[in-house]
Amino acid sequence: MKQDVILCAIESSCDETAVAFIKNGNEVLANIVASQIDIHQRFQGVMPEIASRLHVEQISIVIKQALKAAALTWDMVDGIAFTQGPGLIGSLHVGTIAAKTIAWYLNKPLIPVHHIVGHIYGNAFVSELEFPLLALVVSGGHTELVYMQDHYDFEILGQTLDDAVGEAYDKVARMLDLGYPGGPLIDDLAKTGEPQYQLPLVHTQHELDFSFSGLKSAVHNLISKLKRQNQPLNKANLAYDFQERALAQLLEKTELALNQYDVQHLVLAGGVAANSRLRELFNELIQVHPNKKLTIPPLWCTTDNAAMIGAAGYEAFKRHLIADLDVAAQANLKM
Ligand code: KG4
Ligand code: ZN
Repeated sequence: MKQDVILCAIESSCDETAVAFIKNGNEVLANIVASQIDIHQRFQGVMPEIASRLHVEQISIVIKQALKAAALTWDMVDGIAFTQGPGLIGSLHVGTIAAKTIAWYLNKPLIPVHHIVGHIYGNAFVSELEFPLLALVVSGGHTELVYMQDHYDFEILGQTLDDAVGEAYDKVARMLDLGYPGGPLIDDLAKTGEPQYQLPLVHTQHELDFSFSGLKSAVHNLISKLKRQNQPLNKANLAYDFQERALAQLLEKTELALNQYDVQHLVLAGGVAANSRLRELFNELIQVHPNKKLTIPPLWCTTDNAAMIGAAGYEAFKRHLIADLDVAAQANLKM
């Protein structure tokens, strides 16, 4: 194997058409993201049918843009990494077919990557991953504590029993008529709020699991009750109380896992890792565990992108986790 490894990476699992070129797993040569958010905003959520059509329109353009931005020619590329799943099946198909086509044309290895594994490996752009590692994965579709003894060795310690935390943010934002995506809007609004409303604490049978649907329903019931009683609703205070309750659960479970497992490196991953209050709370948490390393992904790497798929793909490539050309996208792919 020549010394440097350059991978082309493609991500299309939801509403971002993204292509990156990554050298040796942690050097970004190009990272282009074409977001569809403006279009889905009109519907207050991602419309799967529209998402896949927009991916079809964008994918070739974004591939060409990224290759040009990286100042590469295809013969310099060693493999094609792509998001195989989980995600919206129509969207996943577009990136998968593009990756398979390039891999076939160049006769280069095809490297399937799990979207959430990509989110975890996004931290490699900040700091080398050290093991044993604990990742709190928080996105629109996932809320999981993942334990890794080594690269590409994943154990799910706990996960949400119902809604993902990002999904709860988006649904509560909709109840408050804030817009889409709701996470950043609640994050901002909560900064101007203060404690006012009593929202329930959540208990799960297995202590490292999560649950957010009870909290979401409590917000819904509270809003309905205030409306019925013609009482004013302080949106900023409700955003504040919802956020504090939701994040307290994330912190509590992460701390439990830190105490139960031997952990060297704690990382945050996924779209909700952009949350300013969660980042603050994680920085406070690590003060109590000064012998552990904390990495919080840069903001550009919290939202969906292909660079993180290239970082994870590099580790897969080194381990010869290569797929045949008949590999298919999987909406519910397991880690
Ligand atoms: O990782 P991601 O881009 O997509 C999935 O893989 O699901 O995460 C998107 C989620 C959305 O639910 C969005 O509302 C949430 O991340 N999010 C946030 C923030 N920024 C994005 N949630 C809370 N606070 C934020 N600042
Ligand atoms: Zn994601």
